Amino acid sequence: MAHQARAEARPAIDMPAAVAAMAGYYAARAAEYERVYAKPERQADLGVLQAWLPGVLAGRRVLEVAAGTGWWTVHGARDAAFWLATDLNPETLAVARAKPQMPCKVRFATADAYTLAELGPQRFDAAFVGFWWSHVPRARLAAWLDVLFARLETGAPVVLIDNRYVEGSSTRIAEVDAAGDHWQHRRLEDGSPHRVLKNHPTPTEVEAVLGARVSGCEWVEPLAYYWAVVARAA
Ligand SMILES: C[S@@+](CC[C@H](N)C(=O)[O-])C[C@H]1O[C@@H](n2cnc3c(N)ncnc32)[C@H](O)[C@@H]1O
Repeated sequence: MAHQARAEARPAIDMPAAVAAMAGYYAARAAEYERVYAKPERQADLGVLQAWLPGVLAGRRVLEVAAGTGWWTVHGARDAAFWLATDLNPETLAVARAKPQMPCKVRFATADAYTLAELGPQRFDAAFVGFWWSHVPRARLAAWLDVLFARLETGAPVVLIDNRYVEGSSTRIAEVDAAGDHWQHRRLEDGSPHRVLKNHPTPTEVEAVLGARVSGCEWVEPLAYYWAVVARAA
């Protein structure tokens, strides 16, 4: 892909440092995060996804991973029976909690997506994960998915939404490291620079990584700026 060809090659990452840096970046970005949902060229896709999501999760007990400021929580939880929105950062969850339109069935918990250890024995019959897959180092995807699917009943719908790379709309990929992870150079409103891991897998790659954990995948088509899939827990 064009954005890959221009990127610099770098050594593989120091994993714990990268995970901590990702969390720190989003804690600092919490107050300005939702501007990403105001990009004019993305409104048509967002409208499709907002209209589609509640029906997929209707009547379900949903675990949301890396919920952030709860932009999708508000839409997705509308017809769910129960919704637990989790994120590592209290800063982002504070924005979500303060939303007047947040359905009262939504509960919040700080939890690390890589362990979900904070959730005790809780299990769910659906999951929603928005814009998190792209931030998981490729080498950690399988372990993260194992943790997620261990929480789910057989047949549970798992909704995954994330970005496609679109030239002119996406932040360019500045580096590709030895593990094949892509990195962007971003700047927050205070001028602080951040190096952010951001992968853009194809549907084929997503299905290959999901593998035997799922019994099937239904893709939302056509979307220009996002990919969205419902995978069924096997
Ligand atoms: C791109 S944002 C997605 C937020 C929200 N799901 C959305 O789609 O608007 C990524 C989120 O991951 C959270 N995060 C970072 N590291 C995490 C971790 N190890 N476990 C759980 N959440 C984490 C950040 O706080 C941030 O809210």
